[in-house]
Parts: sequence; C-alpha cells; structure tokens
Amino acid sequence: MAQVNSDALVFYGATGDLAFKKIFPALYLMVKRGHLQAPIIGVARGDYDLEKLQQRAKESIQRYGNFEEETFAKFLQQLAFVGGDYTDPQTFLRVREALGMAKHPTHYLAIPPVLFPSIIAQLEQSGCAKGARIIVEKPFGTDYASARDLNKLLLSKFSESSVYRIDHYLGKRPVNNLVFFRFVNSLLEPVWNKKHIESMQITMAEDFGIQSRGAFYDVTGAIRDVIQNHLFQILCNLTMEPPQSLDSESIRDEKVKVLKAIAPLRAQDVVRGQYQGYLQEKAVRENSKTETFAAMRLHINSPRWEGVPFFIRAGKHLPVTCTEILVRFKHHPSAYSSIASKPNHIRFRISPDVTVAFGMLIMAPGEDMASVLSEVQGNPTPFPNEKDAYERVLTDAMAGDPTHFARQDYVEEAWKLVDEYLHADSPVFDYAPGTWGPEEVNELICPPGSWNNPTLPKK
Ligand code: BG6
Repeated sequence: MAQVNSDALVFYGATGDLAFKKIFPALYLMVKRGHLQAPIIGVARGDYDLEKLQQRAKESIQRYGNFEEETFAKFLQQLAFVGGDYTDPQTFLRVREALGMAKHPTHYLAIPPVLFPSIIAQLEQSGCAKGARIIVEKPFGTDYASARDLNKLLLSKFSESSVYRIDHYLGKRPVNNLVFFRFVNSLLEPVWNKKHIESMQITMAEDFGIQSRGAFYDVTGAIRDVIQNHLFQILCNLTMEPPQSLDSESIRDEKVKVLKAIAPLRAQDVVRGQYQGYLQEKAVRENSKTETFAAMRLHINSPRWEGVPFFIRAGKHLPVTCTEILVRFKHHPSAYSSIASKPNHIRFRISPDVTVAFGMLIMAPGEDMASVLSEVQGNPTPFPNEKDAYERVLTDAMAGDPTHFARQDYVEEAWKLVDEYLHADSPVFDYAPGTWGPEEVNELICPPGSWNNPTLPKK
C-alpha cells in the first residue's frame, strides 16, 4: 500500500501522556496545513467520551501547540471517539463502524507494548486491518527475541510496507541533515574515514529526571529508551556508506549494513549509572538497577571505520538538555605538530539549537608561534513553520513514505547489538543529579582527549 494516502487515522491511547504532549499538537498542525483531511478517531479505555476527549485535545494544543479557535474548530469536525477495552472484540467492531467508507485506514498504536499482541489480533478479526497501515511506537520490543516475535506477529497480518515503526528522531531535520551534510559537501567524503577521523562521540543529555514515567522507565532504562533507537540512528547517519539512490530502501539498506558491521557490546564497553534519588521516584521498584545513564564504546568493522572508536552517552539529570555530536580528526605529523594544540573537529548540535561547527586552529594573538582553536559555525536560521518530529513522521506515514521509519531488519539488528549486554548482570554506579554521570565513566570509557560536555548559554 505504499504511496497511497491513508483515508482515516485511528489512534489508540488517545488519553495517554504521549497523545497529550505530542500527538494532538502534531495532528492539529497537520489539519492546519491541510495535510490531514481524513477522520481522526481517538480510542481509549476507561471513563471517556467525545466531549472529554475534545477538552483534553484543547488543553494539549493550548499547552504544547499554537492554539487558534478557527483551526481547532476544523480539527474538532474531524475528531471522533471510540471507547472500550483493548481486549474486547466489541471495541474493534465499533472502530470498524467509525471508519465508515475508509478503505486505507492507518492504525497508530500509541500504547504500552504489552497491549500490541491483543490489539493486532483484534484489528484483523474485526476487519479493521484490511487495506490498512499500522504505526507502532517505540520501544519496539524489549530485546531481540521480543522484537522478533512482534515483527512475526505484525507481518502475519500486515505487509512490511504497511508497517511504520516510529523513532521520532528520524523525523528531526537536524538528524536527517547529518546524512545530507555528509553527502552534499564534496570536501567531506575524502576525509570521512579511518585515515582522518580519530573518534566520534554522541551525547544525549537531559537535565530532568524520569518525570511521571516511573512505571514505563523502570522496566526500560536508558539503553532501551534512547540508545538502541535514537542514538543508533544518529550513529548510522554519521557512518553509513552513500546510498545508491535516494529511495527509502536504498537508504535503509545502508543503515542496516552499519549495524551488521558492529560487534555486540561486551561488559567492558558499557558503563551504566543511576541518579541519586531515582529509587524514591514514583512507581520505581525497590532496589531497582535500571540505568538512567549509559555510556558505551563501539567499533564498526568496515573498511571505512576499522579501528575508529565511537562513543555514545545518554542520561537523565545531567547538567544540560542537549544532543550533540563531536567528530575529532587525527593529527597528521608535520613540522607544525608541536604547535598544533588541539585536534580539528566537526560539532553537530541537534538540539536545543541547530549548529554545525568546524573547529580549526588559527594563529593565537600575539607574536608567538602558537595556535588557538576557533570554531567556524553554521547556524541555520530557524524556520518558523518547521514541522516538529512527530508531525513529520505522522504526515509521512499517512502519505505512505517509509523513509523515516525503522525497518524490520534494522530494529532486529539494533537489538542484537545490545541484547547480550541487557541480559547480563552488570553494575550500576550512582551519580549526583546535575553531573555528567558516574565518575567511573571517565576511567572506564573515555574518548581520546575527553568527553565533549555541551554547554548552553545561561538563560
Ligand atoms: C523519548 C524518550 O523517546 O525521547 C524520552 O522516551 C526522551 O525519555 C525523549 O526524553 C527525548 O526526545 P526529544 O525529542 O525531546 O529529544
């Protein structure tokens, strides 16, 4: 069903946290831009009705969107509600009825993964799966075996081209820019390899804790929550070979090749941490060893990257909220070696602002033969109407474009890399909120020349 516009959107979990923070504001903007003219059917369990859902949508858009009465009135005309339990066949018969004449509905599972199997089965039994597309939220499974089972189940009812596995980082323009920037700038390709690059590091820091998500987070942890998906996608964008063409499958093929070339993680390649106070968070298990911080070292065994270490780090309650990549270049010996004070680098900031910066050495002020590192920065002017990540991926899914979604083989390979480690009993070191993770990280996993700790201008 590729490239056919979907004619209805059903989203399950309409009263949940994700719907409130991300999905309603995204759908509202899609309606506003004319990218979503089809009916929107919210499905939820419990004590809800259309009026309450409308109220919740309003509060969500007022808080996280750009609320305008006129667009909201249009949005409400498209919004319908179906209530009921996800294990009850009647719920899905009501969804089928609400779909009316729609021939190519999209079902979006914005619900906890434990509910996927029963919903997928019910979609088929009720006739809702016919001609349909399905969007599945991350994390896709909890390890390799569960992801494989989930894929099997999905692919027994839907074709791969109808399955859209969300990783909202793929909807972020600065993440897509990593591939774009590498391949449109001809000066990069000759140096983008083991001969010239010393190391790469990716940091995803958040200055807040798990907020009210204890029940989800405590069975998930940082590796499953953001590394296996968001940060591996970034790594693939930074290291993949140029695709044969720009179609979705050529790009996705190259990403899978990167993952296949990485050796599975060993205990000495990972440091896990937990912020002090985590055990007192609501819905966290007593003595939980779930990590709220993880740092890892990876190697890509390909002709381009052999011997180059890649470092990935993510954590909650770190000093800033910022996602940044630092690519450090090797120094090639010459008569100037003793003067070259620092390696060259390229720094990509993904958020909160978007920056691409080249770190170069220039002559230091004064009369000495000394060098100083200076950055040449490119900061794209913010585009006021830019789509946010959720809006972009939902628009693409409704239009049948799978480029910015994870394919089955990609998801399975990504789990394979962390699987052995996830099932091992490894230590978790504590760290004080507001620091860059446990002290052990600097001893055990430290990029050459230290970690790059992003800083933000003072508010
Ligand atoms: C989500 C994770 O996928 O991504 C969260 O579940 C994390 O824990 C969030 O905070 C970060 O997304 P963004 O777009 O705010 O960087």
